Amino acid sequence: MSDTVLTAMKICSIDDVAEGEVIKTSVEGRDPVAVYKSGGQIYVSNDVCPHAEASLAEGYIEDGRIICPVHFAEFDLGTGEVHNQPVGCGKLKFYTVTVVAGVVYADLA
Ligand code: FES
Repeated sequence: MSDTVLTAMKICSIDDVAEGEVIKTSVEGRDPVAVYKSGGQIYVSNDVCPHAEASLAEGYIEDGRIICPVHFAEFDLGTGEVHNQPVGCGKLKFYTVTVVAGVVYADLA
């Protein structure tokens, strides 16, 4: 028997997110997450910008990055590395994503 602990939670349908777009969604008991589709890939991160609490779902995707709508920090999709960094802004937390039968799951542990 495996010791693996399954912590992936259902996030949304893959069709809920259009290519090049980002949406905000909630999972019961958790902070909201942002779901991105870029280059056919799905990414899931915290929705709240690590700088000053803007909703990243209100930002836009450009060149593989999500651009915060407030002070324009840019975060690499998938790694969360920050560019164009306002003072005090750290990395954005991304989660491991699995897509099964058109349903997006993320390991929010
Ligand atoms: S709130 Fe996102 S960069 Fe300032």
